[in-house]
Amino acid sequence: MRKNEYHTPREEKKISILFVCLGNICRSPAAEGIMQHLVKQRGLEARYHIDSAGTYGGHAGDLPDRRMRAAAARRGYLLEHRAQRVTSDMVGEYDYIVAMDDHNYYDLCEIAPTPEDEKKVCRMADYCRHYTASHVPDPYYEGADGFEYVLNLLEDACEGLLDAIENPQHD
Ligand code: 4NP
Repeated sequence: MRKNEYHTPREEKKISILFVCLGNICRSPAAEGIMQHLVKQRGLEARYHIDSAGTYGGHAGDLPDRRMRAAAARRGYLLEHRAQRVTSDMVGEYDYIVAMDDHNYYDLCEIAPTPEDEKKVCRMADYCRHYTASHVPDPYYEGADGFEYVLNLLEDACEGLLDAIENPQHD
């Protein structure tokens, strides 16, 4: 008999989170990088699958915007994601689909394959606990302060989201 034949632990299904913005080069890849960092910090990386996408596919294949990469790097986040357009299948597959603003939110609801999948779409700003914000604003046409503000919101919301997933009884 091979060793451990009857003792192979069944692999637990990972919790999957998809962050979504418009271009997938500023807000959502930053959210992805921050959440990857956070789950690693808490020793949870093996239990999570985290990715990001955009509702607009014009930047597909691009690295995140250099201004966002620089601002994130100053806080210790390395952003190496390549932009991709969100698909209906992705909305079906992921456990949490997290929209940065209302435009993203309604676009995602529209492409959700089933009403059940639509219920998985949520708003990033709803998980902020220190900042009061209705959405994570698009920093693309903003100055450096816009990128810093977005990172502040994303750090706050990522902590809130991870705590909500890990401790659902506190919701
Ligand atoms: P993001 O920002 O949605 O946070 O990635 C944008 C990036 C690019 C464009 C719009 C928003 N664009 O129109 O090219």
